[in-house]
Amino acid sequence: MPTKPDVASLVEISDLHVHYALRTNAVARLVGRSSGTVRAVDGVSLSLAPGEVLGLVGESGSGKSTLGRALLGLVSATSGSITYDGREITGLRESQLRPLRRDLQMVFQDPHASLNPSMTVGRSVGDALRVHGIGQSADARRSAVAAALERVGLAPAERFIDKYPAELSGGQKQRAVIARAIILNPKLLVADEPISMLDMSVRAKILGLLDTLRQELGLTFVYITHDLASARFFCDRVAIMYLGKIVEIGPVSEIFENPRHPYTKALLRAVPDPDPSRTVARDLPRGEIPDAADPPLGCSFHPRCSSAFGPCGWEPRDVRMVLEQRWTRVPPDQYAAESKLVSDGPRFASADAIHASGGSPGEVLALLEDERTARPDEPLWKGVAGMSVSERSVRMEMRPAVEPHLRPVDGADVSVSCHLYHPPEGYETRESRS
Ligand SMILES: Nc1ncnc2c1ncn2[C@@H]1O[C@H](COP(=O)(O)OP(=O)(O)O)[C@@H](O)[C@H]1O
Ligand SMILES: [Mg+2]
Repeated sequence: MPTKPDVASLVEISDLHVHYALRTNAVARLVGRSSGTVRAVDGVSLSLAPGEVLGLVGESGSGKSTLGRALLGLVSATSGSITYDGREITGLRESQLRPLRRDLQMVFQDPHASLNPSMTVGRSVGDALRVHGIGQSADARRSAVAAALERVGLAPAERFIDKYPAELSGGQKQRAVIARAIILNPKLLVADEPISMLDMSVRAKILGLLDTLRQELGLTFVYITHDLASARFFCDRVAIMYLGKIVEIGPVSEIFENPRHPYTKALLRAVPDPDPSRTVARDLPRGEIPDAADPPLGCSFHPRCSSAFGPCGWEPRDVRMVLEQRWTRVPPDQYAAESKLVSDGPRFASADAIHASGGSPGEVLALLEDERTARPDEPLWKGVAGMSVSERSVRMEMRPAVEPHLRPVDGADVSVSCHLYHPPEGYETRESRS
């Protein structure tokens, strides 16, 4: 279970899944193993204490926005539960959600798309008052709107209230969006990359405004970002997401000063050093984020992880990346000869074999053995129990994958989903011994 705040929680998420059906890509489904489903959120559990700021951090495509939207009932859960103040909100109809909307608000990334260009700022910000039947008269509503505008720094309000979005700068538009989000006095605010589309010069100001508002209004805050530096500034706790799962969660101090998951470590190493005279190796994880419609077996991060070992979920298809790395080291003619031995794309491997499409299985096996000898420390080999030639392929006997789960690390208020810390039966690691 993830770390739990001591206070009774405002929001409880339990084993939440949000899957999207893929519309296109029928061909990819036929040739590959893709299920035709994107597991955007894939088993997330977490709780939010009243007044806390939780950061959702991860690379693009990790499921942050989907989780944020699910929290507010803007996308429906495929399975699992979300309770708000003890009340289940998954499966509610829009009409049942409406009374809750006052409490649950969102600020989106793109302020230009968030405001209706044909409505004045005053009308956009005040519309929710009308919808919820708040405010005795048009005048009362107008003064509530003016107060909200001034609160977000659009002051004097009279200068902004009758303007159209096109007359405002990006930063001013985002302030108007924030005014609209707070005018109903919400309890939970989800801000999805609220500064990433703004000019550098206003980012810190908008973040500072959000920080002031959350203190003054006692908001519980979910701050979604791919930017670790702003999460460090803004959040109490941080959840690191990778391919729809939380891989590590804990207080900001632990996540930044003592990161545990190899992915968290890699993310932190990838943050550019503000001091250009220091040449720290920017050790990005190898390869790219895998396709969420066809995620890796076991731990989703294992193909990119330099600490991965036996139980992490190695598959024959992972050999492709190892060969691609090899081919950046060898001379071009060797690359040309070797790459002909195996096919490209999804036909490269099946669940238990590598297809020898352009050469004999014996040649492919020799290539693999040569690579294993050249780079014995490659983590993949810890997952390979045996290789043998069969009729048209190289059979790969892999160690069984074990799915890691988010579990507390001894002695810290941190949970991490990694076999290094919670090794399966029969595996012992340096981390688990210490
Ligand atoms: N409406 C949608 N339909 C299909 N797939 C989607 C949709 N929205 C997001 N996805 C997919 O879900 C995954 C997570 O997306 P998202 O939640 O936007 O992640 P993030 O905000 O971290 O970038 C991605 O693979 C993305 O392509
Ligand atoms: Mg997003």
